[in-house]
Amino acid sequence: MKIIRARDYNDMSRKAANIISAQIILQPGCVLGLCSGATPIGTYEQLVRWYDKGDLDFSGVRAVCLDEYVGVPRGDPHSFRYFLSSCLFDCVNIRPENVFVPDGMAGDLAAECGRYDRTIASMGGIDLQLLGLGYNGHIGFNEPGAAFEKDTHCVRLAESTRRANARYFDNMHLVPSKAITLGIKPIMQARKILLIVSGEDKSYVLEQALLGPVTPRVPASILQLHPDVTVIEYGAMP
Ligand code: F6R
Repeated sequence: MKIIRARDYNDMSRKAANIISAQIILQPGCVLGLCSGATPIGTYEQLVRWYDKGDLDFSGVRAVCLDEYVGVPRGDPHSFRYFLSSCLFDCVNIRPENVFVPDGMAGDLAAECGRYDRTIASMGGIDLQLLGLGYNGHIGFNEPGAAFEKDTHCVRLAESTRRANARYFDNMHLVPSKAITLGIKPIMQARKILLIVSGEDKSYVLEQALLGPVTPRVPASILQLHPDVTVIEYGAMP
């Protein structure tokens, strides 16, 4: 595991964007696994800037979204599809047919999860997975206690996760209680993982994830067992 300390949030974002750009330049048809949330916003902004300058070409890239709320339609500004479209997909030349997001409105959620896993498998798996870190140690929406061997599945969100995400909704009652997430298994099958973490308030959980025991109580701790993980952090390393 490589741990890179960034000077500030922008430095973290540029460094992460550099790694993603290198992936796209070296492998124009790569499969990128992409997370949502506050942490990657600067990374996506930097990628868009480089695209605007003509330095990046997304025409062959395939993007796989890490998770999606259940019961939130795709055009709703709270959906992760909407978030990633407005931060990245709509701003670069990625082909719409190369963007994959779990359908949180599917009638049969279990079937949708299976379909999503098969789609990823048919592309040969994820080349580079970008991850953020939840305050409770989750990656994707794999909440503490989730089995490490799970494929894509539907989860009930932890109350702490709902509270953390309430800032994006008018009130706490509107925060979805369920989501579809890539499981730990497909995340660990990604060939490379890039974890970005920003802020002192994540230092306790980052320390547990990187230096503590590998345990489902801290889902991100499983990353200690992945052969190619880069962590870029700002202000979160003790
Ligand atoms: C988002 C996701 C989550 C977030 C995590 C950190 O797709 O899967 O694991 O990465 O909750 O969120 P932020 O960056 O908002 O602190």
